[in-house]
Amino acid sequence: MDASVFQCLFFLFLTWGCPAGCAEESSAPQDITGDAKKPVLLQDIAATTAFISAAEVAVIGFFQDLERPEVVNFHTVVGRIQDVPFGLSTNPEVLSHYNITINTISIFRMVDDKRQDLEITDGKAIDVAKMSRFIQINELRLVTEYNPVTAIGLFNSTVQTHLLLLTDKTSQEHTERVLRYREAAEFFRGKILFILVDSNVKGNERVISFFNLKKSQLPALAIFHTPDEEQDVLPLGEVSVELVRDFCNSFLARKQMVSVQYCSHTSE
Ligand SMILES: *[C@@H]1O[C@H](CO)[C@@H](O)[C@H](O)[C@H]1NC(C)=O
Ligand SMILES: *[C@@H]1O[C@H](CO)[C@@H](O)[C@H](O)[C@H]1NC(C)=O
Repeated sequence: MDASVFQCLFFLFLTWGCPAGCAEESSAPQDITGDAKKPVLLQDIAATTAFISAAEVAVIGFFQDLERPEVVNFHTVVGRIQDVPFGLSTNPEVLSHYNITINTISIFRMVDDKRQDLEITDGKAIDVAKMSRFIQINELRLVTEYNPVTAIGLFNSTVQTHLLLLTDKTSQEHTERVLRYREAAEFFRGKILFILVDSNVKGNERVISFFNLKKSQLPALAIFHTPDEEQDVLPLGEVSVELVRDFCNSFLARKQMVSVQYCSHTSE
């Protein structure tokens, strides 16, 4: 693995164990109402593609065989994870369209147009905690909040430029800031991953100091290109769509120039 300092920093959190807010799903409260959320039954390809394209992140259980423990576990996960739409399909045409040959849980995400599969091969026990973790790692959104679990998914994306908004979530302006940040993110879908880092979370202090920033300088933007660790930071008075766009565009233009120069040198 190509281990950069930044990547190491991110992975450091993983070895610290699970901080508050990322408690294992298995400790999540049980549904006691008997009215648990159910997956949407997807009976044909059209319904399935519509289901996927309607959400930033969608999860589908593709099952050839319903008489298996993973199907029961899948239903439990659906009942517990609130903010992700879940579908289920056993339709042979749908399964074949998505190239499913064994029971598989797939997560589809808009931000980098990616599908990640959790294939359930015989003998591989996939319990509720493993399934939940797979979803939490891979649920990247237009704006993904940074935590030790999403960090794994962020670094596993093929999008290698990451923009971080380092900000105080308790600030009165937080909602407005995120709205504008999100609006800017629309322009860079597939090019830059937009990440939110809450400066109140103790573990995030390392991310802030990695970019040589102080809490008093926040909110700030930091952009990072993972292959070469090139970075840029911009403390902001306020978050505006224009500022975020300009900052991203100038970073991308600089990267472009470097690669053009590099190409013209090497092609001689
Ligand atoms: C299924 O596999 C084929 C061949 O590898 C590929 O062209 C196609 O895009 C796949 N379908 C989906 C929905 O991923
Ligand atoms: C990372 O991505 C690869 C390829 O898309 C996938 O096979 C792997 O399961 C992913 N890793 C995690 C931790 O989700």
